[in-house]
Amino acid sequence: MTKEEARLRIAALSDELEQHNYNYYILAKPTISDYEFDMKLEELARLEKEFPEFLLPSSPTQRVGGGVTKEFKSVKHRYPMLSLANSYSREEIAEFINRIKKTIDEEVEFCCELKFDGLSISLQYENGMLVRAVTRGDGAQGDDVTTNVKTIRTVPLKLHGDYPEFFEMRGEIVMPFESFNRLNEARAEAGDDLFANPRNAAAGTLKLQDSKEVARRRLDNYCYYMMMEGLEDRYQTHYQSLQAARKWGFNISNFMARCKTIDEIFEFIDYWDEARHQLPFAIDGIVLKVNSYAQQQALGYTAKSPKWAIAYKFKAEEVETELQSVDFQVGRHGTITPVANLAPVQLAGTTVKRATLNNEDFIRQFDLHYGDTVTVVKGGEIIPKIIGVNFDKRQAGAQPVTFTKACPVCGAELVQNEGEAAWYCPNAQSCPPQVKGRIEHFISRKAMNIESLGEGKVEFLYDAGLIKDVADLYSLTFDKLYGLSNDKVSFKEKTAKNIIDALEKSKSVPFERVLFALGIRNVGEVVAKTIVAEYHDIDSIIHASVEELSAINMVGEVIALSVKAFFENPVNLDIVERLRAAGLQFAKADTLKSDKEQVLTGKSFVVSGVFAHYSRDGIKETIEAYGGKNVSSISSKTDYVLAGDKMGPEKRKKAESLGVPIITEADFDAMIGVKRENAETGLLF
Ligand code: IVH
Repeated sequence: MTKEEARLRIAALSDELEQHNYNYYILAKPTISDYEFDMKLEELARLEKEFPEFLLPSSPTQRVGGGVTKEFKSVKHRYPMLSLANSYSREEIAEFINRIKKTIDEEVEFCCELKFDGLSISLQYENGMLVRAVTRGDGAQGDDVTTNVKTIRTVPLKLHGDYPEFFEMRGEIVMPFESFNRLNEARAEAGDDLFANPRNAAAGTLKLQDSKEVARRRLDNYCYYMMMEGLEDRYQTHYQSLQAARKWGFNISNFMARCKTIDEIFEFIDYWDEARHQLPFAIDGIVLKVNSYAQQQALGYTAKSPKWAIAYKFKAEEVETELQSVDFQVGRHGTITPVANLAPVQLAGTTVKRATLNNEDFIRQFDLHYGDTVTVVKGGEIIPKIIGVNFDKRQAGAQPVTFTKACPVCGAELVQNEGEAAWYCPNAQSCPPQVKGRIEHFISRKAMNIESLGEGKVEFLYDAGLIKDVADLYSLTFDKLYGLSNDKVSFKEKTAKNIIDALEKSKSVPFERVLFALGIRNVGEVVAKTIVAEYHDIDSIIHASVEELSAINMVGEVIALSVKAFFENPVNLDIVERLRAAGLQFAKADTLKSDKEQVLTGKSFVVSGVFAHYSRDGIKETIEAYGGKNVSSISSKTDYVLAGDKMGPEKRKKAESLGVPIITEADFDAMIGVKRENAETGLLF
């Protein structure tokens, strides 16, 4: 095949496959078999491999993923991503409509749409090609997730028809229930944490570094809003713009209605409050938008949301089912949590089998009996909640649920702290779920971030006697791990290596996270940070009195007493010593700053762009560690502009016009005489 033939064939196959994709995913009317599609896709991939110069960014092969995003770049939105005002009652909807009618002295038509429960995305198109996909972020700037979004079959990579040259589509990325259930089942099998709901799962998926895995998880996209210069000249109404977008290839929901009266609006709301249970994805309400662009303009915006739109949120779904039995679970602090086993029932798209019962008081409050018919709702948590009992349905002779008096795992007699509803297993040192729970907390992402060691593997290593506490983790070696396996987990070469690497990396995790990782009762992430801001190393925390600790802002007596109790326990002190010997950080980075030669004293820096060896915060911290100062904008008093890749042209112009020297990352390294290895992550310490 000549080069020219390859170019033509690649272009033809790309167009054909994108058309089939549209027929299948948007129109739901496929015209070829899956097999034929796969064959054509394979041929295209083969040709692109042979002639990489013709690989187009919009090629259908991009949908299977492959690209890896190391760090998601933060980008500014061209138009801010606003949110919607929420309402929960008919009265609020009526008020919204009345408010609008006060401003608009003519008939108002509302576009009623589904409120997709996912995460919003901004899709930017130039000359019919998807050029960038950005998450909402804080509304002003979000993360560039283009590589991952390209794997979503319902996001068009190349448009057809009379699309505008530059425009943006706003939409929602959702994870259909089918994908969500499949994903959570696989995670449960692998011993990984479950996602609480499809929205969290979609958000987690979009931030994966490996786009192949994103492709596997089968996200979906619905678009609901167009933005561009001169939009109002092209279309009179929001509805028209969406119909046009559908023709260009976007996935626009068919479930949309234009309503003129409040009764019609309520009819739409009531219909979907019921019918939503039949949808293959989650919606959490209905969105009403004034349809006419001219009227939208007249109504305007508040700082946060348009005045021409409102979201009506559905009430949380509830369902009745039977309470079959109660399990007692042991947490990492020894707290015993009763969990109800329920007759499986469908709720908000997933099958519910369990619900938390919180504590003994909760069981008493509902006077729960085995076999009771209970009402269950789903909050933001994975485990749903019981909110009521249907006493009319209680069977005669039903037995009351009683709280266990002994630890269900180690058998120790339970204890209760005065004034607390919770029961505890006092056997902290050798009750297996407590020890495993502490290790799992220690390795979790926000603590030491040794994620390659999941729950299942911790369990295995603990049961095998290889780790008895968190300090034992640092005595693991590649040779000890490699080749271990049972029917659930196996330590292959790559897994073993990743674990050892992650353990090594964890030695540079800052002190506040190490303190959090220790798992002291009542010491969460924020409290750990607050304590470290006052007490810069572990020894001063160990020796601080309860009075001193309680004097720290946010640290009351309860927290101070837990900290004291933790460090009074010789077992914990021994763990700290062994972790210290393993090389973990037990002092605040700041206290080490004075070790650095203060070569930048008196110098001010403006940091701009992206750096090869430092994160943005990392380079700013480094400037300060060497005595320099960070300033946010360039003035004649600025000593240096430290320019990374992609520094804004405006900044460069300003620096040049004021005669402020622009230095590179390498110049900066030379100034502070830092060795590259030390600066690899942007963290010097
Ligand atoms: S319109 C300027 N329409 O709900 C208005 N938003 O709570 C832009 N959402 O951030 C939003 N379905 O992520 C719009 N049909 C729909 C929607 C929708 C879901 C999300 C969107 C927004 C959030 C506000």
